[in-house]
Amino acid sequence: MEKQIVFSGVQPSGNLTLGNYIGAIKNWIKLQDEYDCNFSVVNLHAITVPQVPANLRKNTLEVLAIYLAAGLDPEKSDIFIQSHVPEHLELSWILNSISYMGQLGRMTQYKEKSQKSEENLNAALFTYPVLMAADILIYGTDLVPVGEDQKQHLELARDLADRFNNKYSETFVVPEPLIQKEGARIMSLQDPTKKMSKSDENENGYILILDDRDTIIRKVKRAVTDSIGIVQYTDEQPGVKNLLNIYSVLTDRPVEEIVKDYEGKGYGDFKGDLAIVIADYLEPVRDRYEEIIKDKEYLESVYKTGAENARKKARKMLSKVQRKVGFIPMI
Ligand code: TYM
Repeated sequence: MEKQIVFSGVQPSGNLTLGNYIGAIKNWIKLQDEYDCNFSVVNLHAITVPQVPANLRKNTLEVLAIYLAAGLDPEKSDIFIQSHVPEHLELSWILNSISYMGQLGRMTQYKEKSQKSEENLNAALFTYPVLMAADILIYGTDLVPVGEDQKQHLELARDLADRFNNKYSETFVVPEPLIQKEGARIMSLQDPTKKMSKSDENENGYILILDDRDTIIRKVKRAVTDSIGIVQYTDEQPGVKNLLNIYSVLTDRPVEEIVKDYEGKGYGDFKGDLAIVIADYLEPVRDRYEEIIKDKEYLESVYKTGAENARKKARKMLSKVQRKVGFIPMI
């Protein structure tokens, strides 16, 4: 039986957070044996907001090194930089032709980002989810492991697959999102009603995968909780709930069991232990990262092989799509 296909990616827009790790990358690692996996550093998406070119270059390699440090294995998965597979862009243009302005305008991420930059709103920000659909559909992807915030974009990818299939005959697989229950939405440590994000102005709101031990411990100890003072898992205590989610995911233990451990204890004990859990979890990742990021030759060989393999797969689907749309093949 043929393996099912997985695609996912992270933008190289600065340092990655514990949210990216728990919501996405951590879940990719265990898929590698069972699925035909494709993981990309999506630098084309990153330029939908202003970037300093030197930083974009640096961040792209940094994300690649984090993928590898976290346990993505180039022997098992195709790991590549999005701009090295230009077929994504060609498919994206074709998908633009069946995308509705109205639907794109309703995307939450677009609405949020466009409010922040009303003056020179760029067109790529608007068509961003169409490129994301192309990333996914070009591999015949069955499963897309992402955090909760990408669900709406996934819906669009499914709609476009359906619409194309109906218009031109069966071509694309309609992909399913793979969103873990706990950890799908890690919240800011300073404002648990907002998702943890690297663009947060308050750096105590997020933990970076590459934060050192002391920084992690300090940030967790400062995490906002409440005045109830009991470690329990309820919507009335969003701060504590978020910390319990992180605790549970990183220790692979059910929330109820952790809650029991802290019966009769205060937030100080709970946060102190959680800080150690996070620091211990990320330390080996950071150590491996430090080694990998120094080895430019290795990084190059990974992204080159990854892109070569990915292109072969992408070209096949693209030719099929071009034929169906009515483009004349050159040979
Ligand atoms: P990006 O770069 O914003 O985030 C990468 C992944 O991290 C997840 N994530 C979170 N999960 C839980 N809690 C959080 N606080 C949190 N913050 C981020 C995201 O859900 C995502 O899975 N458009 C995508 C990148 C992309 C993509 C794709 C993803 C481009 N093409 C094709 C999947 C398939 C994005 O901006 O993710």
